[in-house]
Amino acid sequence: MATTIAAARVCETPGCNTEARLQCPTCIKLGIVGSFFCNQECFKNSWDEHKKLHKKAKEKHMAGLYNPWPDYRFTGPLRPYQQSPRRIVPEYIPRPDYAKHTEGIPVSERQMKETTSIKVLNEEEQEGMRVACQLGREVLDIAANAIEVGVTTDEIDRIVHEACIDRECYPSPLNYYEFPKSCCTSVNEVICHGIPDARPLKDGDILNVDVTVYHRGFHGDLNETFFVGKVSDASKELVKTTYECLMLSINEVKPGVRYREMGNIIQQHAQAHGFSVVRGYCGHGIHQLFHTAPSVPHYAKNKAIGVMKPGHCFTIEPMISEGTWRDETWPDSWTAVTQDGKRSAQFEHTLLVTETGCDILTKRTKANGQAHFLDQM
Ligand code: MF3
Ligand code: CO
Ligand code: CO
Repeated sequence: MATTIAAARVCETPGCNTEARLQCPTCIKLGIVGSFFCNQECFKNSWDEHKKLHKKAKEKHMAGLYNPWPDYRFTGPLRPYQQSPRRIVPEYIPRPDYAKHTEGIPVSERQMKETTSIKVLNEEEQEGMRVACQLGREVLDIAANAIEVGVTTDEIDRIVHEACIDRECYPSPLNYYEFPKSCCTSVNEVICHGIPDARPLKDGDILNVDVTVYHRGFHGDLNETFFVGKVSDASKELVKTTYECLMLSINEVKPGVRYREMGNIIQQHAQAHGFSVVRGYCGHGIHQLFHTAPSVPHYAKNKAIGVMKPGHCFTIEPMISEGTWRDETWPDSWTAVTQDGKRSAQFEHTLLVTETGCDILTKRTKANGQAHFLDQM
């Protein structure tokens, strides 16, 4: 059935020339504009010819030449490409509540929404977090090894998805508020929450891969930014400074320190290098819930609530931009980009506050614990 829309046009059927208000549902889904029919009969009779339009649109989309949002003004050069069908997680792998909910609502997280009180994890819960975080690390390292010019971000997602399943992990992003994929892949001007798609990585890109796994009831969350091929010195400087922002703030984590202090350290260092700190996305408490108290802003003079105590688990995940700190979201409701189209980088660790400091639960165990990009500096 074709559905009625407001604007009147001329019927697509050759020789018909009748005023047309019906639009094909597949065209609406694919964002094809300018194709109309006068009635169901014409739509049905034109189907064999009409459906070729769908095929052409999909081919263009595959090549990134197709704009699904004709009215959206992109802030930079990056464009969306086609997404692959949803991937399946076998039933035997335990999953978070939102994985079953049709709208992807994390009911348990919503119940805690207004809470500022921070959970203190007992020994058993801490061990659960250690295991989940090290599995997340293994998955990110596997993804890292697949990154090269020509590989699509959808291929990275497939590798992440399969590495999760191999480790009895549910990929936490999948269906979280209906996020369609198993990890986030954020290229160049994408700040965070990029959706893996058919775009092949280009020489000179910077790519952030954000992996979160859910294993036996606990989430482990980490991300790194990677170089694709040969990257400009300016981009190297951005990525290096962002990593330093994360590590400098982690150095100050210990009992008694206020969560709001993290932003002062991060902004101080970013600004000293002429970069800005994204304000729209924060670090977060994490354990049996993906995102919960505390909220950990990365910018200076923030009003974050809470003081660090042994047994707290949370992430720090600064997003640092070359130009403006301001973000906006693509019409896909996920992809966060810089408003000026300049590049942005990010690193993330999950931390456990100890008696004397913190354990970096997602730290790399290989290569002296160094982030992957440092191999190419
Ligand atoms: N891993 C991200 C974070 O660091 C969250 C991704 S949520 C998704 O908090 F739905 F976008 F996947
Ligand atoms: Co996070
Ligand atoms: Co993350």
